[in-house]
Formats: sequence, structure tokens, C-alpha cells
Amino acid sequence: MTIQKKPLGTLGVEITGVDVGRDLSGGNGDNLFGDIRQAWQEAGGLMVIRDQSIDQQQHIDFSRRFGPLFHDDGQPPLQDTVSRYLHPDYPQIYRVSNKVDAKGEPTGRKGAGTYWHSDVSFRDRPAQASILYAIQIPPYGGDTIFADMAAAYDALSGGMKAMLGNLNAVHDFAVAAATQYAKPVVIDKDFDGANQCVHPIVRTHADTGRKSLYVNPGFTSHIEGFTAEESRPILDHLYKHATQPEFLYRHAWQPHDILVWDNRTLMHYAVSDYAADRYMERTTVIGERPV
Ligand code: SIN
Repeated sequence: MTIQKKPLGTLGVEITGVDVGRDLSGGNGDNLFGDIRQAWQEAGGLMVIRDQSIDQQQHIDFSRRFGPLFHDDGQPPLQDTVSRYLHPDYPQIYRVSNKVDAKGEPTGRKGAGTYWHSDVSFRDRPAQASILYAIQIPPYGGDTIFADMAAAYDALSGGMKAMLGNLNAVHDFAVAAATQYAKPVVIDKDFDGANQCVHPIVRTHADTGRKSLYVNPGFTSHIEGFTAEESRPILDHLYKHATQPEFLYRHAWQPHDILVWDNRTLMHYAVSDYAADRYMERTTVIGERPV
């Protein structure tokens, strides 16, 4: 069987002709997954697979083909602050939702990711792929925007590339905790050091060898060895540069989309411009240490 591919902006691919829940478990599953993964990498790190109908276990099985997941046995969990949003039966699934249940309890994290970020960049081994399945989408709004950090890197001057190539940045969950989470929700243990680390500002993709900027407003606190005042204008310049329209793709969701993004080379931003129900489930694949 062959998959159909259509470019998705300049950084992604739309895949049709595959049923993730059924076709990957057959005898040809490994070859088919190889084709899907290759299409995803060649396109630039974003992939939408349309019209899927998967349950939580099928979502997890598909995701594990990319690598181990946060909350898998023997693997680290996500930060404790989001534990209340995990699926009660499938802790690998993080629920993103503005809906409440019959008791008025949230069915997921409302407003998750409404800021530019790369998932879990505050860990030594940050997220590789995030795999978000759209179960309910509002009739209008709720798009997710992606920034191509490899194209943004390519477009920098030689002087800037040379300077950044020698620098590391500190990533810290405390940055998002202070700006994106209501105080009572944040769990103090998340500040014990496990959610803070240092990564190169320019990372090289483990599979494609392509260089990308690897800083984000959500989690990057400062450039290592620089004061906050010194690093702020440099980081702000990089964020302004990387979020120019030329480097962006805006995904307008269709029900039953599976979206796979590569956090090693993309930042994303969930647009909070809707009131109707939106319910999605995400798995997060653990990546390698950035170099
Ligand atoms: C996220 O950052 O994982 C949420 C993305 C979205 O809800 O569109």
C-alpha cells in the first residue's frame, strides 16, 4: 500500500490513505511506518494524518513507534503540575481541553500551549515528537501555529550563526509556571531542579543533520553565562526573527486529525480564540539530549 502525500506549508506534509489504528499492526506495518516517518522528516517535522479513528491504546502504540513516551514504565513522567490533566487510565495521554465534566472538573488543561514553546525543553532529554489527536474541535478557531526553527536558523547572518554556535541557554519550567499557570495549580516539587537544564542554542537534528534554533519564550530563561539584561535582547531578537510569517504554518484542525510535530526543529503556539468545546489527546515522545 502507498500513502498519499501533499505539502503542508513549507514545513510539513499531509498524509492520506492510511488507517493508523489498523494498517500499522499488519505484516507490512514496519515498512509503512518507515515511509510515514521518512515523509515526516523530509517535509520538515510536521505531519497531519487525516480522518483517523483511534482509541487511546492505538494512539500510544502508534506513538511508541517514534520512541519511548513520558510516563511509559521506566521512563520519566511529565512535570507534576500537569499530572491532573493526564488520562486516568492511560498516563501517557495528556488531555488538552476547555471542557468540564458533570462535576465541574476540567477534562484537560485549558489553554495549554497558548505561548510559543517547544515541548518539555526544560529536561535533559526533551520531547522529540508530540502526537496530538483532535477528538472535538470548535466550529471556528483553535488553530495551532508552528514556527520552522531550521529555516529561521538558515536565514540568520553568518556573524549571528557564529556567535550562537558557541552559546548555551538555560531552560526552566519556572518560566512557564510564572506566566502560564494559575498559582494554585503549580506543584512546588517541579522546582526541585528536575525541570531545569542547559541546551545549545543551535542544535543539530539527530536524523536529518539540519541545524535549528533551540530556544523558546515559554521555557528559556537566559543565555548561560550572560546576565538576564544581556541575554534578553538577543533572545527577543531570535523570537521576533523566528516568528516572521515566512517561517510559520497555521494548522486549521479538522476532526480526527492526528498531528505529529518534531519539537527538535519546530516551536508551536495554540491560538486561544474560541469558546466552543475543544478536546484533544496528546502523547509525548522522549527525545535525545540536544547537541
Ligand atoms: C500543546 O502545546 O501541546 C497544545 C497544542 C494545541 O492545543 O493546539
